[in-house]
Amino acid sequence: MRSLLITGGAGFIGANFVHYWQHHHPNDRVVVLDALTYAGNRASLAPAEGDPHFRFVRGDIRDQSLVEGLLKEERIDTLVHFAAESHVDRSILGPDAFIEANIIGTHSLLKAAKQVWLNPQSSALISHRFHHVSTDEVYGTLSAGDPPFHEASAYAPNSPYAASKAAADHLVRAYHHTYGLQVTTSNCSNNYGPYQFPEKLIPLMLINALQHKPLPVYGDGRHVRDWLYVEDHCRGIELVLDKGRIGETYNLGGSCEKTNLYTVKALCALMDELAPGSACMPHASLLTFIKDRPGHDRRYAINPGKAQRELGYHPLETFESGLRKTLIWYLENEHWWRALMDADYQDWMTTCYESQTKVAAFPRSPGIGFDPGEDER
Ligand code: NAD
Ligand code: DAU
Repeated sequence: MRSLLITGGAGFIGANFVHYWQHHHPNDRVVVLDALTYAGNRASLAPAEGDPHFRFVRGDIRDQSLVEGLLKEERIDTLVHFAAESHVDRSILGPDAFIEANIIGTHSLLKAAKQVWLNPQSSALISHRFHHVSTDEVYGTLSAGDPPFHEASAYAPNSPYAASKAAADHLVRAYHHTYGLQVTTSNCSNNYGPYQFPEKLIPLMLINALQHKPLPVYGDGRHVRDWLYVEDHCRGIELVLDKGRIGETYNLGGSCEKTNLYTVKALCALMDELAPGSACMPHASLLTFIKDRPGHDRRYAINPGKAQRELGYHPLETFESGLRKTLIWYLENEHWWRALMDADYQDWMTTCYESQTKVAAFPRSPGIGFDPGEDER
C-alpha cells in the first residue's frame, strides 16, 4: 500500500488522477495539497471526499514546513507533483505567478522531500518517489516535417509558462544527480477531458458553443497539438510510478496530431449531433478568427517510443471517442462549469479576448463550407 501526496489535485489533471488512483488502488492513502487558485476547484474532488483514505489540505507548495509536516505525518512515500500555473496566455500577460508557482514552488517541494526522505538523522523512508509532471512545451516548437519530440530533444521553451516548467524539470534532475532524490519526470502533450477549466481550447470552445458565443481561433488555426485523453495520461503516470527507472524522463503523448481548426470543427460537428436543439446550428458558424497568441508555438508532437518500450504505455482512447466522452461530460455536468462563470472568469475573458492585443485580425468567418486548405489534419 502506498501513501501519496498529490500536489495540484484540485486542478484538471490532478483531480482526474485522484479519481483514477482511488478506482485502481482503493486501499492507498491519497492526500491532496492544493492552494485552490482560480484553476483549483474543490468540486472536482467531490467523488473522492467521502473516502476514509482521502484527505484534502488547502495550502501552498511554497510552504516548505507544511509540506515537510505532511510528508512525515502521513508517511508519504510517493509525491506526484501536478501543482502549477498552467495556462500559456496567462503567462504571457503575467509571468510572475509562473515563476513563483512553477519554479520556486517546485524547488520548495524538492527541499522538503530532501529534508524528510534523505535526512540521515530521521527514520527516513528508504524507498520514496518524487514524480514531476511536466509538458512537451519545454522542447519548443516543431516545423511541419520535423520528427516528434523525444526525451533527448534539446530544451527550447518559448513562453514564460514553458520556460518556468523547463526550469522546474532541471531542478528535479539536479536533486537526483546531486542529492540522490528518487525522481522521475513525465513530459506530456495536450490533455483534454472532464474537469478542465474553460480557458483551455477544448472546454472553452464547448462552453462557448453551448452558450452560442463566438469560438475564437488564434491566427490561421493551423497550429498543431498532439491530443491525449486525460485518463490515458493518468495511466501513463501510473506506469512511470510502477515501472519507470529512477532519474529517468518519459515522454507521454497521444500520437494524435490535429490542427486547431480540425479540433474545433470536430467539436462543432459533435455538438450538432448531441445538442441538436441548439439555436446555433450548425455550431461551426460560430467559428471566429482572432489575432494570434504572441510567440505561438506552431506544432507539438511527442514520440512516446521510450514509454511504449519500457512501460508498455499505449493510449486507449481515440480522439473521436475521447471528444465524445468529454462533450457528454460537459453536457451532463453543467452545474460544474456554470459555477465557474463568475466575475473573475468574465474579467479573464475580457482581458484575454477583448483587449487591444486580440483585435480581430482575420475578418473572414469560415462558417460552413470554409475550405481550410490542404494542411488541415
Ligand atoms: P490546472 O491549472 O488545471 O491545475 C493546477 C492546480 O495547481 C490547481 O488546482 C491550482 O490550484 C494548483 N496550484 C497552483 N499553484 C499552486 C501552489 N503554489 N500551491 C498549491 N497548489 C497550486 O493544471 P493542469 O492542466 O491540471 O496541469 C497539471 C500539471 O500538468 C501542470 O504541472 C502542467 O504543467 C502539466 N501539464 C498539463 C497539460 C495539459 O494539457 N493540461 C499537459 C502536460 C503537462
Ligand atoms: O502541450 C502541453 C500544454 O498544453 C500544457 O503544458 C499546458 O498546460 C496546456 O495549457 C496546453 O497548452 P496550449 O497552449 O497548447 O493549450 P491551449 O488550450 O491554451 O491552446 C491549444 C491550442 O489552441 C493552441 O494552439 C492555442 C489555440 N487556442 C487556444 C485558445 C485558448 C485558440 O486558437 N483559441 C483559444 O481561445
